[in-house]
Amino acid sequence: MQDIVSDARAERVDIGFVPTMGSLHGGHAELIKVSSMRHSLTVVSVFVNPLQFGPSEDFGTYPRNLDSDVRMIREHGGTHVFAPSAEEMYPQGFATSIHIGGIAKELEGAGRPGHFDGVATVVCKLFNTVMPTEAFFGQKDYQQTLVVKQMVADLAMPIAINVVPTVREADGLAMSSRNAYLNFEERNRATSLFRALTRAKEFIENLEAPLQKRKALPRLEIEALMQAALQEVSVEYAVAVDAATLQSRDNYFSGEKIALLIAAFAGRTRLIDNIVTEIV
Ligand code: PAF
Repeated sequence: MQDIVSDARAERVDIGFVPTMGSLHGGHAELIKVSSMRHSLTVVSVFVNPLQFGPSEDFGTYPRNLDSDVRMIREHGGTHVFAPSAEEMYPQGFATSIHIGGIAKELEGAGRPGHFDGVATVVCKLFNTVMPTEAFFGQKDYQQTLVVKQMVADLAMPIAINVVPTVREADGLAMSSRNAYLNFEERNRATSLFRALTRAKEFIENLEAPLQKRKALPRLEIEALMQAALQEVSVEYAVAVDAATLQSRDNYFSGEKIALLIAAFAGRTRLIDNIVTEIV
């Protein structure tokens, strides 16, 4: 991989990069499409990264379909597939880890200890291997996009991070490889995440005139709306936080950007989703 990209860079070919864990769906297809419109070479990595799974998580059962992934990558304009083995990525004696504080500590970081260190470590190694000019991430993993941006800024990596809007099924469910775990009934219940986010977003964006004049919008009011719409799933968090810092404040004010973030279980499947909105 490094030989291929070194040659390309020597010829001043721009490299777009889409890191994935495979089992590709419409969300990944969109990332590949956007990259291939912007770069003549698009590398897609397919690697189920053991470092980012907790001991009781689904590393063993995570869906793996390399043949159909390669077909999808080709169909959407990807030019190269990088699918290393765990031994190639983490050979005997591998002893380095990237730890990100701040933004990585809350929410997913709190519920999944070590997760973002695993993500940062693999993304850093993939960046060093693929040497892209631009890398593409889906907004569905909103906190991940902030963590990657933090790493790139802190470690002065010369790579642009492009966050592509979440791709959804017709009923609003965010596309995710883990949706494959849902049975019929769980799949129906899973749509309540998008309903809850939409309800809160509409509330924020369509405040009645008297509310608009109000000095502050209480966080608890927004979060209560989401909770009320999430009766059919088991909620881990449903929060309204500052979109840049992920910090939770009691009140939000006109002109501020808020990230509405949900993690919830439908059956045994953990789902996350988000919408970013601005108070008028
Ligand atoms: O978003 C994912 O699929 C993974 O976290 C990533 C960025 C490919 C790192 O393993």
